Amino acid sequence: TQTIGILTGGGDCPGLNAVIRGVVKSAIIGHGWRVIGIEDGFDGLLNLDKCTPLTLESVRGILPRGGTILGTTNRGNPFSYPVEQDGVIVHADRSDTVVANIKTLGIDALVTVGGEGSLKIALELGKKGVPVVGVPKTIDNDLRETDFTFGYNTALETATDALDKLHTTAESHHRVMILEVMGRYAGWIALESGIAGGADVILIPEIPFHIDRICSAVSSRSARGSHFSIVVVAEGAFPAGGSRVVAHEADERQAIERLGGIGQFVAKRIEQCLDMDVRVTVLGHLQRGGSPTTFDRALGSRFGTKAVQMVAAGEFGRMACLKGRAITSVPIEDAVRDLKLVDPTGEIVQTAEELGMMLGR
Ligand code: F6P
Repeated sequence: TQTIGILTGGGDCPGLNAVIRGVVKSAIIGHGWRVIGIEDGFDGLLNLDKCTPLTLESVRGILPRGGTILGTTNRGNPFSYPVEQDGVIVHADRSDTVVANIKTLGIDALVTVGGEGSLKIALELGKKGVPVVGVPKTIDNDLRETDFTFGYNTALETATDALDKLHTTAESHHRVMILEVMGRYAGWIALESGIAGGADVILIPEIPFHIDRICSAVSSRSARGSHFSIVVVAEGAFPAGGSRVVAHEADERQAIERLGGIGQFVAKRIEQCLDMDVRVTVLGHLQRGGSPTTFDRALGSRFGTKAVQMVAAGEFGRMACLKGRAITSVPIEDAVRDLKLVDPTGEIVQTAEELGMMLGR
């Protein structure tokens, strides 16, 4: 009999519980194996009290629940673990303790459900001899080598619903409504919710924007009789550089920070060039919460069962992934090489532009 350890790392994501349930059910029902749930990501592997068996009872009723029953944290990289020394925080390599604890627990395979950061840690543990299997997780959908990550579809639903709601109030008050969504590096949420929610302007990190072009898009809508506009902006979107790019960048970064984010920054600039009322909504962590959609429940469940199949086949150092409609696996190394960004000349951006949406360029 085998013992599988499972942990969830990094930011939480709707569908994590579907993965945990998938792993537990297929390991216990399909193979009669044991599963140990590790609390709070890799942090849990530094504290044996945080590692306890997961049974069929532990996963009962969790499929529709957001978050993760195992807890998670963004801290706790065992290769660079923050410890306090004489009042200052220093970083220590505690990976040997993690490897020793994995042995003590009798774990034969470690299933790591995480984004780029957690999967990189899993890869390093693999190099130290730990048999690891990865499951991709991020609401941003910016992980390479998988067409979709679970959580993304739920985040899109939340963002699209917000855009629908902003539409009616924007129209009533003849306002420009700005919705700031998540996406520090990749604009997938802004782009696809923008298309689904009929935004007039979509600003993403991959396409530096020109405020004057946004203003003319808004005013030409007014000229055509639509006295309101909806702008969706990814948190990592950034204005295009002038001739002195470096100085410009530092100034703009400061202004964005001072104003409290890119949504507020765009609002200020629009107010400076147009005589219109502008309001900003920052959607924030609402995008990470709530019950997963059908798509995310199914995808999470499929990834969970795939992870157990991978353990059974001895496919270590690999990550479960979705290619087209098929679940398969790829080396973790390939998945974490860099992020999967929106292609500014790709079909989805082109579609948005052909629909009359303005990408700020
Ligand atoms: O990667 C997921 C994500 O939700 C990003 O979209 C966002 O920038 C970040 O996490 C927020 O992190 P935190 O919850 O630590 O503020």
